[in-house]
Amino acid sequence: MRNVGELPESADVVVVGGGVIGLAVARELARGGAEVLLVERGEAGAESSWAAAGMLAPQVEADAADEFFRRAAGSPDAYPDFARELEEESGISVELDQTGTLYLAFDEADEAECARRFRWQTRAGLPVERLTASEVRALEPRVSARVRSALRFPLDGQVENRLLVAALVKACARRGVRIVTRTEVGAIKVEAGRATGIETARGTTHASSVVVACGAWSSRLRLDTSHAHGGGSTNRVESSCNGVDVDAPARPHIEPVRGQILCFAHAASSPQSPIVRHVVYSPRGYLVPRRDGRLLAGTTTEHVGFDKSLTGEGRETILTHAREIAPDVDALVLSDAWAGLRPRGADAWPVLGALADVPNLFYATGHYRNGILLAPLTGALVAAMILQRGATSPLLEAFTPERFRRASSCAV
Ligand code: FAD
Ligand code: GLY
Repeated sequence: MRNVGELPESADVVVVGGGVIGLAVARELARGGAEVLLVERGEAGAESSWAAAGMLAPQVEADAADEFFRRAAGSPDAYPDFARELEEESGISVELDQTGTLYLAFDEADEAECARRFRWQTRAGLPVERLTASEVRALEPRVSARVRSALRFPLDGQVENRLLVAALVKACARRGVRIVTRTEVGAIKVEAGRATGIETARGTTHASSVVVACGAWSSRLRLDTSHAHGGGSTNRVESSCNGVDVDAPARPHIEPVRGQILCFAHAASSPQSPIVRHVVYSPRGYLVPRRDGRLLAGTTTEHVGFDKSLTGEGRETILTHAREIAPDVDALVLSDAWAGLRPRGADAWPVLGALADVPNLFYATGHYRNGILLAPLTGALVAAMILQRGATSPLLEAFTPERFRRASSCAV
């Protein structure tokens, strides 16, 4: 594999990881005047950000008006401006679609779930509508005749996440972010309680701040503290934590959660009209129509480590749930399938902010099922924190990596 781009000797900020989160943070930092280096192990945006379904669906995916929902996912308002600016900067449309999403009920249990969601979402002041079966079929004539009722979330929608990544790469380059691909960061150097740069097989780069945006791999990135003995850091992991470097600062634990997607296309001989126009969910699966005619069907949530394989069982499950929503899926041809690893923290909330004992080492990870949705918000929050040297907000306090340390002195 050929490395792409020269590693500079130094940068104000090094962002490790070129998914949608690393790119969004890098772009905002450059907008604020920082000299930014982004280092990506493979190609930019080729992991979870590529595998995603691109839904901007905080309301349809949330189970309760919890802290996470109230503070972050409840405010997707940033997207129209974000999409417009990216298009201006890159010339690429991210295909922002705000048609709304539907959540269908097929049996009594689903209807009870719809009623519960309707109650807590209206109580939280969110726009949500109840639809009868005939109203659903008037909006989407090809959903199953078995549908009993539905919710409509008029503010939810989608973007084409692969175009989003392409637009972010161009926008970053235009704003002067230096992007180096096919270069794995082996470790972050930590000396005397400060991150001083990154180590790669191609050499080191010094930095005033480092951002870890490695998605599902964020906890795998080593902190090299071999120069740090006698440094001024506090709160180190206790030696009683089995298997953890006793001298390493406590870090958030991010777990990979596999999601498989099936992608359908129209058979050449059949009518090319879309099966659905909205993003359509049931409690068991979803369909996402793309502008180019493809239809995505998802998904699985599997705790299988760093394995991105597709499985027969995953395919059957997704197919069953897709057919339940719209039996006409059987008239399409399966044109592609893929899997990605969602980055999940212990409480499934994003992990944003610096480590208390390495205050210039920032995490921007753990976005789990909502990284596409939360990219603009994350970019703005993390860049502000770095550029304004410690700027904080209730949001950042809720997402600080330190919350895990508070919960447990060891298993962070
Ligand atoms: P990634 O995109 O995985 O990027 C991390 C990058 O870090 C990778 O490119 C990797 O190569 C790089 N890296 C790792 N280690 C190193 C290293 N040591 N050195 C250099 N580079 C390194 N979210 C939504 O909002 N809406 C959706 O509809 C949606 N659907 C999804 C469907 C599926 C099937 C999946 C899998 C995810 C979905 N998500 C969705 C979640 C979303 O994809 C993620 O939350 C988001 O992409 C995370 O972005 P990221 O940049 O943190 O991670
Ligand atoms: N947000 C959709 C998914 O994670 O599958």
